[in-house]
Amino acid sequence: MKQIILRRALSARPTATDFVAVDAPRPSCPENGVVARVVHLSLDPYIGSRLRGRHMGQAPPRPEIDPIPGAVVGQVIASRMPGVSPGDWVHGMDGAWAEEAALIAPRKLDPKLAPLGAHAGVLGMPGLTAWAGVTRLAQAGPGDVVLVDAAAGPVGGTVGQIARSRGAKRIVGVAGGPEKCRLVIDRYGFDACVDYQADGWREVLAAALPEPATILFENVGAALLSAGMAHLAPYGRVVLCGFAAHYHDDGPAAAIPAGPVIAKRAKIMGLVVYDFFPEWEEFLKEAAGLMREGRLTILEDRVQGLAAAPALFERLVSGATIGKAVVTVAAEENPLNREDPKTAADKKSRPPDPRA
Ligand SMILES: NC(=O)c1ccc[n+]([C@@H]2O[C@H](COP(=O)([O-])OP(=O)(O)OC[C@H]3O[C@@H](n4cnc5c(N)ncnc54)[C@H](OP(=O)(O)O)[C@@H]3O)[C@@H](O)[C@H]2O)c1
Repeated sequence: MKQIILRRALSARPTATDFVAVDAPRPSCPENGVVARVVHLSLDPYIGSRLRGRHMGQAPPRPEIDPIPGAVVGQVIASRMPGVSPGDWVHGMDGAWAEEAALIAPRKLDPKLAPLGAHAGVLGMPGLTAWAGVTRLAQAGPGDVVLVDAAAGPVGGTVGQIARSRGAKRIVGVAGGPEKCRLVIDRYGFDACVDYQADGWREVLAAALPEPATILFENVGAALLSAGMAHLAPYGRVVLCGFAAHYHDDGPAAAIPAGPVIAKRAKIMGLVVYDFFPEWEEFLKEAAGLMREGRLTILEDRVQGLAAAPALFERLVSGATIGKAVVTVAAEENPLNREDPKTAADKKSRPPDPRA
C-alpha cells in the first residue's frame, strides 16, 4: 500500500516538498484494534506542531520511516476488537496518511447518523473541541456575547453555531480575508465577522462589539488574543483552545496580557480535547441533530487522493484553507459491493484475512 512519510526532519513550517509517498507493507492488526481501509483523512493544525516535536510532549515521526499521523474515518478490513467486524465503519485518532491504518480501539460509527465524511470534521475532533469549549468550559447560554477567531475553520465555525444553539445573544467571528468572512456570516450564521487582514480592523472589531464579549474563544493568539482581551466583559470567560499563529513561528511564545485578566476578573480556561473523548457520543447526538435541522454546517476544503495530502497540508499550516481540510483517500463504496455476484461468491469461499 501507499503511505506518506517525511523526507527529512522539519525545522520550519512544513511545505508539500517535505513529504514523499512510498510503498509500505500493509499493517498488521493490533490487539483490541482493527485494520481499516482509510477513506476520509482529517488534516489538523496540531499535526504541524507534532511534526516539529512541539505537541504535548509527543515525539515527531521519524523521517523516512514513520507514516504521518492523522485522524481517519475508515472501513474495517480485519478486526481483533469485540463488537467490530469487517465492513464496519470506524473513526480513529491514531490513523496515518496511508491507504490502510492499524487503529487501537477506534470508535464504531453509525453510517445512518450523518454522512461518513462529517466524522473527519464537524462531527470529529474539531467539532468535539468546539462543543467541549462552548458547553463544558464556557457554559454558553442566553445573553452571552461570543467572540471567536479562526472563525471560518472547523473549530471556530462550530463554536459560533453551537453557542447560537445554546441561546447566545450575539456571535462575532474574526477571520482572514473577505471570502472567509462571507462564509462565516452567510453559511455559519454569525452576526458579524471582522477581517483582520484589512486596514482598520481594530475599529471594525470595536463596532462589532457594542456590548463586550462575555466569552472569548481563542484559536490564534498573537494580536488577536490581545485585541480579544481588550473587548472582554467583566467576569468574562476565556477559552484558550489554540495558538495557530505561533505553531511555526520562532518569535515570542503566545502571551495573554495579564493586566486585563485582573481588571476584568477574567476566568481563563485551557482546553485539551483529549479530556472530552469520553463524552464523544453525547456530543454526536447533539451535533448530528443540529446538522439534520440545518443549524450546524462546516464547509469542507476537500482534495481527492492521498497524493494530494501534502499540498493541502501546506495550505492548512499557512492559514490558506477555507473550512475543514479533508482528504478523500478512497471511495466510500466498498469495492466488494461493485463486484459481480460470481467474483463476490468466490471471495466469500476464501479463508478470512489472516491479519484478523
Ligand atoms: N486545544 C485542543 O484540544 C484543540 C483541538 C483542536 C484544535 N485546536 C486548535 O484550534 C484552532 C483551530 O483549529 P481548526 O482545526 O479549526 O483550524 P483552522 O481554522 O482550519 O486553521 C487554523 C486557522 O488559524 C488562522 N491563523 C491565523 N494565523 C495563522 C498563521 N500564522 N498560520 C496558520 N494559521 C493561522 C487561519 O485562519 P484565519 O485566516 O481566519 O486567521 C487558519 O485557517 C487551532 O489553533 C488548533 O490548534 C485545539
